[in-house]
Amino acid sequence: MSSRQKLQGYEFYQKVLGSPNYILAPMVDQSEYAWRILSRRYGAQVCYTPMIHAKMFCDESNKQYRTDVWSTGKYDRPLIAQFCANDPEILFKAALKVQDQCDAVDLNLGCPQHIARRGHYGSFLQDEWNLIFNLINILHKNLSIPVTAKIRVFPEVEKTIQYAKMIESAGAQLLTVHGRVREQKGHKTGLADWEQIRKVKEALKIPVISNGNILYFEDIQRCLDATGVDGVMSAEGNLYNPAIFAGINPPVWQMAKEYLEICQTVPTKISYIRGHLFKIYRPALPYHTDIREQLAKVNTLEEMFALSEELRERLTKTAEESNKVSEIRKDENGFKMFPYWICQPNIRTASGNSKKEKEETIESDIISVTLQRE
Ligand SMILES: Cc1cc2nc3c(=O)[nH]c(=O)nc-3n(C[C@H](O)[C@H](O)[C@H](O)COP(=O)(O)O)c2cc1C
Repeated sequence: MSSRQKLQGYEFYQKVLGSPNYILAPMVDQSEYAWRILSRRYGAQVCYTPMIHAKMFCDESNKQYRTDVWSTGKYDRPLIAQFCANDPEILFKAALKVQDQCDAVDLNLGCPQHIARRGHYGSFLQDEWNLIFNLINILHKNLSIPVTAKIRVFPEVEKTIQYAKMIESAGAQLLTVHGRVREQKGHKTGLADWEQIRKVKEALKIPVISNGNILYFEDIQRCLDATGVDGVMSAEGNLYNPAIFAGINPPVWQMAKEYLEICQTVPTKISYIRGHLFKIYRPALPYHTDIREQLAKVNTLEEMFALSEELRERLTKTAEESNKVSEIRKDENGFKMFPYWICQPNIRTASGNSKKEKEETIESDIISVTLQRE
């Protein structure tokens, strides 16, 4: 199919994606169909699938993998399917399988984890510009839908700009820039560089999405103003508060219940559900460690409903008894302080976390939110 038959750049952004400002990030095991339904209900205007491993997706003997990573429905649009790959033909073959059920295919060039180094994908391709050009160009020339990409920045802004321009010249119709370098992960996460993102935006003709440093709804407008980008993507901010794009911080039990109800209608892996409940409930779990222990063990949706109900009863009682005023105060670092039954960002400070938590963070290489406020 000729690339001229499909919309490009801003026409694609406006007419197909609907000029979105609020974008749900691709998240392995966490931006699955059920979560996307919840996130869209609370303001996400475009959603990405979790990263899909192109080679595994094409493996006919591994049907389970395909079921686990690819599930969608009529109202799950606009949707961008993200792949990781290092072979253009395999990427194309994988993308062909989803092109009729989504609006664009994205190439993951940002994953910094050990598994990506071993598998030779994500940010570990960022020095192989010919390969990246070919991965993007094959989709640009042959798919019926546009190709997009998600990158991390280099330490040198000039190099990031050249890199972004190369990706644009290969045929990408939208670029997401996560403003951290490859080494910024785990305990070294730190802040995303919005100034680099601003310069990339200035240099490109295609729409640019900014990613990084979004803890609260207000950060989105701050980011739009500071970078001039077209839209803002949130990953962790959305996981801890699925209503972040709606500008509200609901009670944790409300989000958990809504999500579990969606999971009743949309088959979802128990491990994904568990991951979400741990994050939604995170501020409350240190006060209810028995629930935390049980949540790690239960294996059915019914049990998760029962646990959630138990926690809801306890938390609503505390909330009623509490004489906390509704006015939100800020701590000495400028972070908002919410009662622990309210959805809120997971703020990791260098000194504030327990030793165990720090080790867990390092071990799992979680891409954590900021260490300090600007
Ligand atoms: C649980 C989790 C899974 C992630 N999986 C992916 C992924 O599949 N593809 C990707 O490009 N980035 C992935 N990321 C990175 C996010 O998309 C995003 O770039 C990063 O978390 C920074 O954004 P944030 O500050 O809003 O969290 C993941 C992040 C988290 C927390």
